[in-house]
Amino acid sequence: MEIKTTRIVIAASNRCLFTAHLPAHHHGTNLETPVTIHHLRRDYRYGSLTRDELPHDPIALFQTWFSELRGAELPEWFEPNAMTLATHKATGGAACRIVLLKEVEPDGFLFFTNYQSNKGMEINLDSRVSLGFYWPILDRQVRVEGIAERVESEISEHYFRSRPRSSQLSANVSPQSEVIEDDSLLQRLVDELDTKLAGADVPRPDHWGGYRVRPISVEFWQGRPSRLHDRFRYTKQSKGRSEGLSPDQPSIWKVERLGP
Ligand SMILES: Cc1cc2nc3c(=O)[nH]c(=O)nc-3n(C[C@H](O)[C@H](O)[C@H](O)COP(=O)(O)O)c2cc1C
Repeated sequence: MEIKTTRIVIAASNRCLFTAHLPAHHHGTNLETPVTIHHLRRDYRYGSLTRDELPHDPIALFQTWFSELRGAELPEWFEPNAMTLATHKATGGAACRIVLLKEVEPDGFLFFTNYQSNKGMEINLDSRVSLGFYWPILDRQVRVEGIAERVESEISEHYFRSRPRSSQLSANVSPQSEVIEDDSLLQRLVDELDTKLAGADVPRPDHWGGYRVRPISVEFWQGRPSRLHDRFRYTKQSKGRSEGLSPDQPSIWKVERLGP
């Protein structure tokens, strides 16, 4: 089947920044050409989120939303597990970047990285982080605020072993976040290590592993027509002794609707 596309031009102050081809059926997109950035908007019509469909646990809703996403026909380039990770900088201010979600556990979201990178150092100093997911195909956003902790080394090892050899080599040699003066350095280091290993397994460096973000609050945003979006925020209630809860009991979450 031939997919009709419409050319969309994004311009600022009469200067064309880039052009994109969007599927003509892409719902609600303003397809006038050329357009300025402030003209780019679409109405969100995919669905709604009501209080009675909310499970007690936000991880359960996350899993449901994620499986619905995987059931959708996603373009190859779209990575549903890409998420923004925001951290506090030691110098004050915030930093964010994309990382890939690799596991969702009953009590947390897992990603893998270099512990000596900027994000690693930032988490060392302040483990309060935020995650953000945007799934435009379902008009959905999920925001997580929580505490990041290093995962057990067996989990890091297990995931490291599942990665392609080339990625394992890169993880060993890349000084993530550091300035690299020599443009050919990384490839040279990869080649050297590969030769040295002579086909043996690539070891996982100590500075590479996973983080688990244990959520304190999770917000689900479902885009709705005319900007009357549905937002529900789950906030974890403390499991202190005053509530007579032991750590292995399921968490209790307060759910509130938020203004869009
Ligand atoms: C789609 C995408 C996925 C990425 N996944 C990861 C990842 O899982 N882990 C990681 O360390 N960096 C990942 N990166 C690179 C980070 O965005 C970032 O450049 C890098 O981790 C260094 O960040 P930092 O200097 O703030 O520590 C990804 C980037 C993109 C665009």
